[in-house]
Amino acid sequence: MDAPRYEPYRDVAAEPFRWRLGLRPLDLRDWLEVDEHRAADLARKRAVMAEHPHTAFRVLPDVETESAEVLAAVVEHLAEHHPDVDLAREREAVRSLHPLDAAGRLVQEDLVIMVERGGRLICGGGSVCFPNRWDLPSKVGRSMAEIHAPVPGLNDALGEPVDQVLARLAPGRAYWRLGWGILDTDELYQPLDGTAPARPAAAAPIDHHLRVERETLRRFPGCVLFTIRTHLTPLATRSVDIAALSAALDAMPDDVAQYKELDRVGPAIAAWLREP
Ligand code: HEM
Repeated sequence: MDAPRYEPYRDVAAEPFRWRLGLRPLDLRDWLEVDEHRAADLARKRAVMAEHPHTAFRVLPDVETESAEVLAAVVEHLAEHHPDVDLAREREAVRSLHPLDAAGRLVQEDLVIMVERGGRLICGGGSVCFPNRWDLPSKVGRSMAEIHAPVPGLNDALGEPVDQVLARLAPGRAYWRLGWGILDTDELYQPLDGTAPARPAAAAPIDHHLRVERETLRRFPGCVLFTIRTHLTPLATRSVDIAALSAALDAMPDDVAQYKELDRVGPAIAAWLREP
């Protein structure tokens, strides 16, 4: 059960570091993931929303229509592909909420929409209970390049291709990609605004958790929806591809390691992984 479902560092471990689009066509039947963590993830989302509604949910004032498209698609997908979900009861529980908030509480994924305003594609808002060290409120109203600005070298390497992918994304077509990080906690709620629960003062490599993000991109008539599902694996299980993960840590440039909060602990994790 603890083996990671996705191991993105595997594809790249043998090469020098570079940012990559890594987009693969997505069969829409696999759009949203439902697994054994669903009840716990949705309960955690409700708790995060009760405690931190202004960190985890933020929208522009005029994105109701686009959000309703997303909610309708989420409901349709769950009804069609996950009949075990008690949709009638779950929909009733979110009936009075903003449609993007409602959609976010029905799925394990975090949801972010990009909308066209003034000829630009900007972030229209999101329901993000499980951010990996970033803040949703600072992204709302921003362009793709502005959103990615804190990521060292990303816009130089991929700014144009990312904009092109988003501009050309056709309705009914979708893509997915993977991202990853390592943190010293299994707490999914990790914003940067100081509201995340305290983390251990001095965590050893064995106390760290791999976070793999399965992200999807899908075009709707009025918006592009970006979903982020975070999968956690404790490194203590040693169930990751040890050679690949330690090689990927070795290959990470200093600025990227710093961005991922791995500048100090990354080499220690790589060394610990390699211990017999
Ligand atoms: C083709 C599309 C995209 C690519 C290749 C891409 C790539 C990346 C990469 C490499 C990172 C750094 C974190 C990591 O290593 O996983 C990142 C961070 C991020 N991406 Fe994307 N991304 C894409 C689309 C999007 C979209 C559509 C959104 C929607 C808003 C988005 C929002 C973010 C945010 C919020 C962060 C964190 C930034 C921060 O730390 O402040 N990305 N992205």
